[in-house]
Amino acid sequence: MTTCRPAADEHIDTLLASLSLEQKVRLLTGADFWTTHAEPSIGLRSIVFSDGPSGVRGVVWDERDPSLNLPSATALAATWDLDLAYRYGAVLAAEAVRKGVDVVLGPTINLQRSPLGGRGFEAFSEDPLLTGELASAYVRGLQDHGVAAAPKHYVANDFETERFTADVEVDERTLRELYLAPFERAVTGAGAWLVMSAYNSVRGATMTENPLLSTPLCTEWGFDGVVVSDWTAVRSTEPSARARQDLVMPGPRGPWGAALVEAVRDGRVPEDAVDEKVRRLLRLAIRVGAVKGAVPAPAAPVPPAEQGTALARKVCAAGMVLLRNDGALPWPAGGPRSIALIGEHALLPRTQGGGSATVLPEQVSTPLDGLRAALPDTAIIHGGGVPVHQGIVALPPASLTDPVSAEPGLRARYLTADGQELLSENRRAANLVWLGTLPDGASTVELRTRYRADHTGPVRLGVAAAGRLQVSVEGGPGLDVDLAPDGTNLGAALFAPPTATVPVEATEGAPLDITIRYHLPEVSEASRVAAITVGTETPAGSASDGIAAAVAAAREAEVAVVVVGTTPGLESEGFDRTDLALPGEQDDLVRAVAATNPRTVVVVNSGGPVTMPWRDEVAAVLLAWFGGQEFGHALADVLLGHTEPGGRLPNTWPATEADVPVVTTRPDNGVLRYSEGIHIGHRAWMRGGHTPAYPFGHGLGYTTWDITDLTVTSPIAGQPAHVTVAVRNTGDRAGKQVIQAYLSRGGSAVDRPARWLAGFATVRAEAGTRYQVHLTLPPRAFAHWDTGWRTEPGTYTVHVGTDAEHTPLSAPISISAATAGQPG
Ligand code: BGC
Repeated sequence: MTTCRPAADEHIDTLLASLSLEQKVRLLTGADFWTTHAEPSIGLRSIVFSDGPSGVRGVVWDERDPSLNLPSATALAATWDLDLAYRYGAVLAAEAVRKGVDVVLGPTINLQRSPLGGRGFEAFSEDPLLTGELASAYVRGLQDHGVAAAPKHYVANDFETERFTADVEVDERTLRELYLAPFERAVTGAGAWLVMSAYNSVRGATMTENPLLSTPLCTEWGFDGVVVSDWTAVRSTEPSARARQDLVMPGPRGPWGAALVEAVRDGRVPEDAVDEKVRRLLRLAIRVGAVKGAVPAPAAPVPPAEQGTALARKVCAAGMVLLRNDGALPWPAGGPRSIALIGEHALLPRTQGGGSATVLPEQVSTPLDGLRAALPDTAIIHGGGVPVHQGIVALPPASLTDPVSAEPGLRARYLTADGQELLSENRRAANLVWLGTLPDGASTVELRTRYRADHTGPVRLGVAAAGRLQVSVEGGPGLDVDLAPDGTNLGAALFAPPTATVPVEATEGAPLDITIRYHLPEVSEASRVAAITVGTETPAGSASDGIAAAVAAAREAEVAVVVVGTTPGLESEGFDRTDLALPGEQDDLVRAVAATNPRTVVVVNSGGPVTMPWRDEVAAVLLAWFGGQEFGHALADVLLGHTEPGGRLPNTWPATEADVPVVTTRPDNGVLRYSEGIHIGHRAWMRGGHTPAYPFGHGLGYTTWDITDLTVTSPIAGQPAHVTVAVRNTGDRAGKQVIQAYLSRGGSAVDRPARWLAGFATVRAEAGTRYQVHLTLPPRAFAHWDTGWRTEPGTYTVHVGTDAEHTPLSAPISISAATAGQPG
C-alpha cells in the first residue's frame, strides 16, 4: 500500500493514540446514511454530509426542510465566470451552515464525454480546462467558508449505464489529460478536503480499490484529505482497506467494521493503513470544526440567505446562451403588448436535473410567473403545447388536505409487516423520497389525502414507484399492481420509477379521498431507501389539438415564446440518454408556431444538448439549461434586456445526432472503451470535419465586439505564456464577452487534438469602450502526457476568438528546448 504522510500533526497523533483498533475502525464507516460516528472520548462529533452539487439538501429529502435550488452545474459553466463559481460555492456554504452540514458532495467534475451521458447536466462541461478552473473556484468558495467540498466521482464516471460495475478501458495519457485533470486542479489548485471515489472500475479495478487513489491523487498531487466512497461503492474488506480508500458511506452496515478489525488482527491489512485513514478523517474533522478544542480551518462569514436567491437569478441569466437572434431580442422596454406563451415547460419548468442532485426548493418561478411579474400590463396567454412529460406529475400540494390533521398535504403512516404503526406524519408534497430515512422496520407506507381537482372532467390518477402498490380512489376503480423498475438499478427505481394510473371523474373543487398502500420491496426495507409520487397523468389531449391551440394563440399575439425541454425520464441520474431529440412532438410545435408568428422566441429548458431541426426558422433561440428556482424571473430579465444572456456554450451542440463524435455510453460485455482517446467534445468535432449547429464557446449576447491586436509572449523556464488582445464593445449597450485562446501544433510528433482550449478571460465593457484583455496560458497547456508530463519544443499556434470555430486572430508561440525541459 502506498502511504502519503503529510506533515505530522501532533494533535491528530495524540487523538489517534488514545483509540483502540475497534474505535478506529468504527470511525471509518458511516453511522447512518449521511453522518459519521462521533467519538466522545476524543471530543469528536459526527461529520454531516449532504448532496450537492447545485444545492444542499441536508440529511432529509423532505419538503418541510426546503433548500436553495441553484441552476445546474452546466448552467454555471456556461457563465465561464470564475468569480460567479466562487460565489456559487460560498452560497452553498451558507446553505450548508444553515442545515448543519459539514461536507457538500460536489462539485461533479466528470466530463461530458458524450452528450448522451445521463448526468451531463450535473457536470460542468466537455472540456477539462474549463471544468478544472470552475471546480477550483467552486471548491474555494465552499472551503473558504469552512465547509468541505468533495469533488466527484473519481474517476471516469462519465456515463450511467451499468454504473456500479462497468470497467472503463482508457489509456494513461487520456486519463491524465482529460479525466484526471479537473481533479488535479481541484486538489492542487483549491486544496479539496475530500474526493469521492466512483462506482465504476478503471482498467480492471473498481475505483474504491484502484491504485489511482494513491497515484496520482496522493503521491503526486499531495492530497491530504479523505477519500469518501460513492454511496455503497465499497464492496470488499481487504482490497479497499489496503487501497487509499478512507471512508465507507453510508453506514452503519458495510464491508469494513468487524471484518476489518479481524483482517488487521490477522495481519491481512496493516494497522498503519487504518491509522492513516483515521488521521485523515480527524484532519477533516478538525478542518470543519468537529473536534472539541482543536482550531478549525479559518472561515469567512457565509453570505446572508437573500444573496442565495439573488445569486440563483444572476447565475441563471448569466448562463443563458443566446444561440441565435435575428433582432427579436431583447424586447423593447415595457415589453410586447401581448405574448403567446406556449409549451408545457412554461408552467412545469425543469429547474434541476433528477437524481441525488435534487433539492426541494420552497418555491420556483416558472416562465409564466416570471413574465407576469415583470409585465403586469401585457396580455400573456398560455396557449397550447404538446404533451411532453411522460408518466405522472405530482398532485399540487395546494390541492391536497391531510384527512387526519386537516392540514394541507397528505397523511403518511409507516407500518411494520404485522401492521403496527411506527410513525404517522403530515407531509406537504405528493412526491416523497426517503434516502436512508424510512423508519427502521417499516414494511409499508400508507398515504392518505383528500384531493380537490382544479377542473371538471376525466383525469388519470396514479402512482410512480417500484414495488407493490394498492391504490383506492373514492368512487373509482381500485388498483393493485406490482411495478418492476426498468433494470436492476436502484437509481432508475428511485428517479425514473414505473407508473400505474386509474381513470377518475373529477369535479372542480369537490374532494376525492385517495389511499395508497406502498408495500416496500426488500431492498427498500434493508436500505431504508424508497420513493413514491402520487399524481395525475399530464392532460392527455392530442398533439395536434395542442399545436392548433398554440398556433391560434401565436396568431393573435405580438410575440410568441415557446418553452421546450426534456423530462426527468430522459435526463436524470441512473441511466443514459437514448437520443438527443426533444421528446413528444415539440419540434412540430415549434415549426407550426414559427410559421405563424415571425417573432417566435424558443427557450430551451434542457440540461444538455438537444437537436433543434427548426433552429433557422425561428427568430431567436435562448438556451436556459436547468435554470434553478429563479428561472422565470431570470428569463424575464433576459427577454426584456434588463440582463444580458451572458452564457457561452460549455459543450458542443450538434445539428444532427449522426454527427456526434462520441456516442458510446453503453459498456460492451461490461467494458466501456474510451477508444476515442483525447478526442472528445470540440476537439473531436474539429478533427471529424462535421460542423455542429453551435460550436463550443458560442453565444451571442446583446452587443457586438471587435477583437484586434493580438500580442503573445512565449513562455520561458516553466512560466506561463501571455496573450493580450484589444477588445472593443462596438454595440450600443454594455455587455460581456468570453475571450478564448486555443492552441494547435502542426507537424507534431505526438497525436494531438486539432485545437485545444488553453486559456480564457471574461470581459465586461460599456458600449464603445475598449480594453486590453490578458490571458495566461499555463505551462501545462503546452504539455502532453507520455510517461510523465512532456513539452514538445518548437512552434505552436495560438488562436484567439469567441468560440472554438470563430478565432479571427492567431500567432505563433515558440517553446525552446530549455523551456520544454521544465516540469509541465
Ligand atoms: C451518487 C452520488 C451521491 C450519492 C449520495 C450516489 O448515487 O452517485 O453523486 O452523492 O449517491 O446521494
